[in-house]
Amino acid sequence: MAHHTFASDNYAGAHPEVLAALAAANTGHARAYGADQWTEQLQDVVKTHFGEWAHAYPVFNGTGANVVALTSMLPRWGAVVTSRFAHINNDENGAPERVGGMKLLTVETPDGKLTPAAIDEHAWGWGDQHRAQPLVVSISQSTELGTVYTPDEIRAIADHTHSLGMRLHMDGARLANAAAHLGVPLAAITTDAGVDVLSFGGTKNGLVFGEAVIVLDPEAVQGVDYVRKMTMQLASKMRFISAQLLALLDDELWLRSASHANAMASRLRSGLEDLISAGQAPGLAFTQETQANAIFAVVPAHAVDGLREQFGFYDWNAARGEVRWMCSFDTSEGDVDAFVAGVRTALAPRGA
Ligand SMILES: Cc1ncc(COP(=O)(O)O)c(C=O)c1O
Repeated sequence: MAHHTFASDNYAGAHPEVLAALAAANTGHARAYGADQWTEQLQDVVKTHFGEWAHAYPVFNGTGANVVALTSMLPRWGAVVTSRFAHINNDENGAPERVGGMKLLTVETPDGKLTPAAIDEHAWGWGDQHRAQPLVVSISQSTELGTVYTPDEIRAIADHTHSLGMRLHMDGARLANAAAHLGVPLAAITTDAGVDVLSFGGTKNGLVFGEAVIVLDPEAVQGVDYVRKMTMQLASKMRFISAQLLALLDDELWLRSASHANAMASRLRSGLEDLISAGQAPGLAFTQETQANAIFAVVPAHAVDGLREQFGFYDWNAARGEVRWMCSFDTSEGDVDAFVAGVRTALAPRGA
């Protein structure tokens, strides 16, 4: 499949600046397992974004980041309160449960966002030996449904979580898209909003591979180094992950790429909204707000297979004809406009 798709931001290739950084790091010998100069420099850059206590643990992938983060935050009897739509619940093949040994306690979140009241559905029973102990809350920013928490919403969740003696984890596989949407620095929706431990995403924003567990409050974790190795997320040639993360974080590439992906998603949404207003897209409707780089919509059954074949995207909920269209750093205006034109043709009222 050579052409552009709307399937996922991880269908995209790597950003040329990231590849250049990888090539530049390919020089001579460097100390292994994170004792290299790129990983050292990454720690300084991470502090400029996330504050003086922040420490990054580069890992290979997002599932690994979540498993390392959550395992380090919990005792063996711990449980995590999260959304039913959370990636840790739906898309990690039980890795948090099997590899980390924790229990996930999920709640319904129509727009993907937890609230203090939703957390309370499961935040109880401490001291009861019959109940897995809810000690961590995990939220995704942006969410799996393309929505974005405001800094105040995160602060309210963090305050509530902490008042219960629990800790707050954020799955930031698309943190950059959320910050770009809100127009705020990364710290405003993490460190300054009360997040304790972050899974910071790189792959969806133009890395070949690589994410990082970023510990924002050292008291929220235990033994991250050991857990990372034990869960097979410790890279021996770590310089190649750190060099990519540096390329993303050192020169605002994270912001440029995420802003572009978001802008393409809003172009797509408004192009389709124009079709709807002109009566040119009967049966097309949106199911979520478009705040980051994802669009969720229902498409009439007669058109969805053809569109999927032509442009490439995933069904989200096939039973209700709901699909997901994702934009990435390399989506062009031409890609978006061709897709809008394709939708118009596929949905054109008969005789029009
Ligand atoms: C919200 C979220 N978290 C984490 C991940 C990272 O997963 P992976 O293990 O595929 O890198 C993804 C990727 O799909 C995601 O959407």
